[in-house]
Amino acid sequence: MKHVEGTIVALFLMGAFSFGFTLLSRETNTIAVLRAKDNSALILNAVTAPEVVKETSGIAQEVLPEMTEAEISTLKIFLRAYYQTEKINTTPYFDTDTKALLLKYQRDTALPETGILDTATRKSITDAPFRTHCPKGSGDVDASMTPISPTQGISKTYTPDGLIAMPSLYTKNTSFCLTQRTRDAVMALIDGARADGFSIKVSSAFRSYATQAYLYRMHFDILKLTRKTVAVAGHSEHQLGVAVDLTGASIGFKSASAYFKTSPEYTWLIAHAGEYGFVQSYPTGKETITGYAGEPWHFRYVGKEIANEILKEEITVYEYLNKMTGEAVSI
Ligand code: DAL
Ligand code: ZN
Repeated sequence: MKHVEGTIVALFLMGAFSFGFTLLSRETNTIAVLRAKDNSALILNAVTAPEVVKETSGIAQEVLPEMTEAEISTLKIFLRAYYQTEKINTTPYFDTDTKALLLKYQRDTALPETGILDTATRKSITDAPFRTHCPKGSGDVDASMTPISPTQGISKTYTPDGLIAMPSLYTKNTSFCLTQRTRDAVMALIDGARADGFSIKVSSAFRSYATQAYLYRMHFDILKLTRKTVAVAGHSEHQLGVAVDLTGASIGFKSASAYFKTSPEYTWLIAHAGEYGFVQSYPTGKETITGYAGEPWHFRYVGKEIANEILKEEITVYEYLNKMTGEAVSI
């Protein structure tokens, strides 16, 4: 109570505009909530009736000035997912548990142990979803030709067998995993583009169910983006290990960028991707069929023969594979 009284005196001195406060007392780890209908009442109460003060206990909530609430939320969601823990809550406050786990992350990943979201930590966290070491397959039946849509998905536990990492020369910054066939095909495609004078790199490849769930939450819930360019977990072709996001030198290798549509690398891909067995899954103009905004960067490996049929029939990958369901489809 000593602290709270001190606070009231301070409020009194602050004068006419002090009312409706929530104050933090770090020493006592309590939050003192002071309310008054109008300022004069507060001042009167402050002097004569300290019992109007309501005290509620709570956790110490330290908000770092250099972190926005959205960034703190993002950090907490990331740490919860990375360590598979619910020990830290999802409120946008940088509390002691968050700081402890952030320090652990910095220690585990050999970053300077600053306990804050510094530049190196920020970069590391941004890259983390894509730093996946190729996980072991789940041993399920191969699902690489499964039609995937917002309403048709795959099991949460499905991981393709034989995922293999891509050499960094072909990727943007971090290492990515794909099925062997997809990896070989996309490397051939990138080599082909290079031979024609275009520099293309992979900016995303296999994504686990958990990574997809994280990206979805980040896109819609945290960043509040509305563009439909991220699938609900369990409904992403990326989980099959046969989809790649591509980018090019002309747009500074930006990931998942709408600018890719007007780039010379994209024009090259439209002319040649089919020759390497790739087709665009979400073309502009097919939004009502695919359920997604145009994604000029997202290509799925289906093999040369099927790619040619899809291009000839001018239908989407989903429509083609869905039509084929029940028939033997192999690549
Ligand atoms: N960007 C596509 C829709 C995905 O998240 O799988
Ligand atoms: Zn994609």
